[in-house]
Amino acid sequence: MEDLLSIRAQTIVAVKKTGNFIHGEIGSIESKDVETKSLNSLVTYVDKTAEQMLVDELKTIIPLATFLTEENTIAEEKGEWQWIIDPLDGTTNFIHEVPVFAISVGLKHHDEVVLGVVLELNRNECFYASKDGGAFLNGHPIAVSKRPTLADSLIATGFPYYDYDLLENYINVFKRLMTSTRGIRRLGSAATDLCYTACGRFDAFFEYSLSPWDVAAGALILQEAGGKIYDFKGGNNWLHGKQIIGSNAIIANEVLQIIKEEFK
Ligand code: IPD
Ligand code: CA
Ligand code: CA
Repeated sequence: MEDLLSIRAQTIVAVKKTGNFIHGEIGSIESKDVETKSLNSLVTYVDKTAEQMLVDELKTIIPLATFLTEENTIAEEKGEWQWIIDPLDGTTNFIHEVPVFAISVGLKHHDEVVLGVVLELNRNECFYASKDGGAFLNGHPIAVSKRPTLADSLIATGFPYYDYDLLENYINVFKRLMTSTRGIRRLGSAATDLCYTACGRFDAFFEYSLSPWDVAAGALILQEAGGKIYDFKGGNNWLHGKQIIGSNAIIANEVLQIIKEEFK
């Protein structure tokens, strides 16, 4: 087994190669190219082709690794090493030509995410981290913000768009954060939200109904940048638990308390 830094370097190459393909397809999506998987969950040939490209490349890096991918171009299998892939995070933005979308590739070893690469394609920003190796943006170390209060903070979220059972709870958190912070943003790419929090543009992010491929890479990048990651109860079931809070270390507890109170 090669060391993690070498795997990281090879993963970045694979992600950038796939990024070139996606970049070339910007603006070429027609309505006949858009399939609906479930309510408001869209996919195009670009997502599927990008995923296939990533799978083919990543297989050569760790031949024994298994995969968990959004578009199921390869069957999900468990294993000591598992790649967790979202080939295009922000598909709705991509289709509508709103310039925020990213490739997200995480690597899990046993139960722990040990590598994450997120390439935001419009600004060509490559965020990456490996366990205990720090977090980087285009080769430069990054860190979460030091903003000490909610009043000074800019918060990111994702709006629920299909699973409305917890909508009331969500709206209550939204109200409280709207009135106690500088503002709330919804970019439309959870991987990008987590990375923007990792490099201090946002101070915290929260969303529910997310899948492992939305958060695996971005959460590790945020942790390695000095941030905190929780599920909505303050535990660590954020990879498969569908609920995530990512925050700078200072306001994390305050954000968590609000979410705990409203989602109890
Ligand atoms: C979506 C984006 C979006 C989030 C959704 C995700 P997709 O991923 O991350 O920001 O709100 O929950 O499903 O479908 O574009 O890969
Ligand atoms: Ca996604
Ligand atoms: Ca996707």
